[in-house]
Amino acid sequence: MSRILAKSLQWTQSPLIINAPMGGFAGGDLAAAVTKAGGLGMIGGVFDMNELHDNLAKATATLHVDQSLDSSKTLPVGVGLLPFVSKLEEALPVIKEFKPHVLWLFAAKEFEDYTTWAQRIREVSPDTQIWIQCGSVTAALHIAEACKPDVLVMQGVDAGGHGFEKGAGIISLLPETADALQRHDFAHIPLVAAGGIMDGRGTAAALALGAQGVVMGTRFLAAKETIVHGKYQSTLLDAEDGGQSTVRSKLFDELRGPNIWPEAYNGRSLVIDSYRDHVNGVGIEEIRRLHGEAVKGEDAGFGESKRAAIWAGTGVGLVKKVEGAADIVVEVRNGAREVLQRAAKI
Ligand SMILES: Cc1cc2nc3c(=O)[nH]c(=O)nc-3n(C[C@H](O)[C@H](O)[C@H](O)COP(=O)(O)O)c2cc1C
Repeated sequence: MSRILAKSLQWTQSPLIINAPMGGFAGGDLAAAVTKAGGLGMIGGVFDMNELHDNLAKATATLHVDQSLDSSKTLPVGVGLLPFVSKLEEALPVIKEFKPHVLWLFAAKEFEDYTTWAQRIREVSPDTQIWIQCGSVTAALHIAEACKPDVLVMQGVDAGGHGFEKGAGIISLLPETADALQRHDFAHIPLVAAGGIMDGRGTAAALALGAQGVVMGTRFLAAKETIVHGKYQSTLLDAEDGGQSTVRSKLFDELRGPNIWPEAYNGRSLVIDSYRDHVNGVGIEEIRRLHGEAVKGEDAGFGESKRAAIWAGTGVGLVKKVEGAADIVVEVRNGAREVLQRAAKI
């Protein structure tokens, strides 16, 4: 197992476990807990750079007391931003101030936007690695060519939250991407796997496919440190059989108003009443009205009515309890090691 990537993340332990930079869900507490447990902790950012600043300050306060984690030139956490909606000029001062170890980009309108973002970020924080998440072999090749990312995060179609509308599971996406990158002289770019990985078994499988680390979003939605409504979390824990209980649709991005996501994207959520209405032909205005009413309630639309999007991946049925983020990291890491040791004996 190659440790190229892990070597550039000195504080981490193998296999590398990363929490997804879930905008509005993954804050400074989650990122610091994951990093302290030997993973790569990520903070999700979207519109509000003051909020990102606060989350980075929180992570700094927790991590800088622990000298063993101090990677000196950078803060040992990552930040995820969405170039189609986050403002580069507003993000740069925050990146310059905190110098996160990783800057993860996802969902640019055009591949060239990644190039601009990567250049400007490297100017203000040369030691920050640029990671880009995408969901196809073609996109991976374009991105590799256009902006020379330090890491490509390959997101399979099972992923919770947003992703490519047309996709493949990581079991074929990851090795085909690796082969294509090799053919085009980009074999040096490490790949990380995302989408459907919930435990040590999924992690071991991703490593066997050639990934140098794994990203988990849905599993960390059940972490104590995640910023999430209690009803969202309990509904998630009750969900089973994710291929049936979740669905990808653009409808989820229409609930609050017109969809602003780039054309190639949709999102995976639990099947909710808003979606059922949509399938049954109820018009978007009525769906929005009912959604608007439900989100004002105490359960914020995540309870009985389930009118608000509950982003979750197909692996949701494997998430059974709320735990500390560090416990999740340690359990998944040890689980993967055991699975790989067992598999090595075959
Ligand atoms: C609630 C939620 C919010 C997400 N928000 C973001 C985001 O803001 N930026 C991003 O790059 N990816 C986001 N993602 C996608 C993750 O980066 C990742 O690809 C996905 O969670 C992996 O699949 P899994 O949920 O099956 O683990 C989000 C995922 C979830 C579940």
